[in-house]
Amino acid sequence: MKVTVTGIKADVGSIGGHICPSEELLAAVEKTVAERGKGLIIDHRLNYTGDDVAILMTHDRGVDDEDVHRLAWDAFLAGTDVAKAEGLYGAGQDILKDAFSGNTRGLGPAVAEMEFDERPNEPFLMFTADKTEPGAYNLPLYLAFSDPMYNAGLILSPTGGKGYRFTVMDVDHSEGDRVIELVTPEDAYDLAALLRDNGRFVVESIHSRHSGDIAVSSCTTRLRNIARKYVGKDDPIMLVRTQKNFPATGEILAPFEICHYVSGFMRGSHIGPLMPVKARSSVSFFDGPPVVSCLAFSVRNGKLTGPVDAFDHPYWDWVRERAAEKAHGVRQQGFSGPAMLGIHDLEYVGISHRLDALDERFSVRRGSS
Ligand code: F6R
Ligand code: MG
Ligand code: MG
Repeated sequence: MKVTVTGIKADVGSIGGHICPSEELLAAVEKTVAERGKGLIIDHRLNYTGDDVAILMTHDRGVDDEDVHRLAWDAFLAGTDVAKAEGLYGAGQDILKDAFSGNTRGLGPAVAEMEFDERPNEPFLMFTADKTEPGAYNLPLYLAFSDPMYNAGLILSPTGGKGYRFTVMDVDHSEGDRVIELVTPEDAYDLAALLRDNGRFVVESIHSRHSGDIAVSSCTTRLRNIARKYVGKDDPIMLVRTQKNFPATGEILAPFEICHYVSGFMRGSHIGPLMPVKARSSVSFFDGPPVVSCLAFSVRNGKLTGPVDAFDHPYWDWVRERAAEKAHGVRQQGFSGPAMLGIHDLEYVGISHRLDALDERFSVRRGSS
């Protein structure tokens, strides 16, 4: 059967700062999806990562379905009502528009969805990250889909060896979707030239060149482009199908052990290592570090089995310790140099105001040029 998997994620309020949602908030979201989703969706699951709630839904209505998106929107509104009643911080933070207009894209919540012909055995992963931006997935995707050092399947599997087609979006462009398609291995260097810039170029989807099937759908939402001001980092969601013509689950997970430095962390204005955490983890140190969780599912006729928590394993405990060391390392230098983002990427205006005020106090020494 043709199934659609839709993941929609939003921060609608959290306890004690930007730490995690309350049980009551989660219950309100769950109740709305369960009750109002009857007859519309086939199955669903809820997760949270840091202060963001993710709703995963399966259905047969295709991507960008108005009713499915409205269901998630209404569930987040129900969560927002609870957040307000409980005095949670940032209640309704990612509900950036007053009214639903047919699709949650561009309204604040992050969306990743894909429609595909279900294989007889269909494994997929849902990644959700907090205190970072959509480009945080660029490096793990590049390595898992184009580097045999991480994905042995590129040389061991005849189908994986045909390479992949990446669709990359220029998220700085706000008048329409500016996208490019590049294929690996031929375009690997061009792809790297784009994907090194996580703030601007973001992998939107990846397809198998062997079968043409979709392997990855990742969100490309930039809240700042919607709200025209900082309202929180973009905290991306991503769906990845695995095995057979696609990389194995373990090949997709492997690059996450790097805990590469990404933008986000405190006030969305620093760099920090992306720490793979167990599902339903909060954030703490310096409002971070940036975290990513991964739930693994199987789906048959749209019915989900799982999740299994892909980062809940002793190996990842060791990785988390290394991520903490990397976080500690960069935090030792506070605001200095690359520890804090460049002036154009800062999510707060305090430094710009200071520089503006200092500007008139500068003088150019006579005869110094
Ligand atoms: C939120 C985040 C946090 C906040 C910080 C200050 O996603 O990254 O680090 O930016 O806690 O929050 P405000 O400015 O709301 O007091
Ligand atoms: Mg928040
Ligand atoms: Mg968040």
